Amino acid sequence: MPDPERYGYRYGDHLVGSGDPVLACTAAGMTPPTGLPQVVWRAGLDLNPLDVTDPADLAWLDALIWPEHAHRRARLRAAAAVVAADPPLLVRGDLVDDLPALAAQSPPDATLVVFHSSVLYHVPMPRRMAFAETVRGLPGHWISNETPDVLPYDPLPTPPDEANHHVLALDGRPLAWTRSHGQEITWFT
Ligand SMILES: C[S@@+](CC[C@H](N)C(=O)[O-])C[C@H]1O[C@@H](n2cnc3c(N)ncnc32)[C@H](O)[C@@H]1O
Repeated sequence: MPDPERYGYRYGDHLVGSGDPVLACTAAGMTPPTGLPQVVWRAGLDLNPLDVTDPADLAWLDALIWPEHAHRRARLRAAAAVVAADPPLLVRGDLVDDLPALAAQSPPDATLVVFHSSVLYHVPMPRRMAFAETVRGLPGHWISNETPDVLPYDPLPTPPDEANHHVLALDGRPLAWTRSHGQEITWFT
């Protein structure tokens, strides 16, 4: 999600932004946002970064979508067009070893936001803890959207239903249950 301010969002009848794709989210226990962030610098860090301006990389992302999920395929293509119009800096590297150097490239007068989703389950617990220590040592904020078991949280509220949920956390503080593709958010009460 490199371009959060360039997409549109629909929370029930409430629309935020005018971009395409429009990402629909069922929200409970919260007031939907009224505005989009201003993003002045963006970069991605991954062991195997995928570049949507490379047809082979885009075809791979397309292939990862189940055949009958046409709406997801349309959304990927719309989002890829947004990203391709102004590609972010992509860095091949490890989330612990290489984050500080990348973060140091961000403008010092902007607020650094480190966001990650569905990645910490790929790394063993000691590396997750090293990542948490690293990101806590950076200026700015840390937003994570990960399964509830990857970081040692205090007991969490009961999830809204039987589906698999992620935990949205800000600066290590869990705030809400989410579904992994952003289609639902249930704020903790
Ligand atoms: C399931 S994908 C999630 C991609 C994206 N964040 C999302 O939510 O759709 C996991 C990604 O984590 C990357 N990854 C795994 N271990 C990593 C590490 N140690 N450092 C950086 N990236 C890593 C993989 O290469 C892969 O692109």
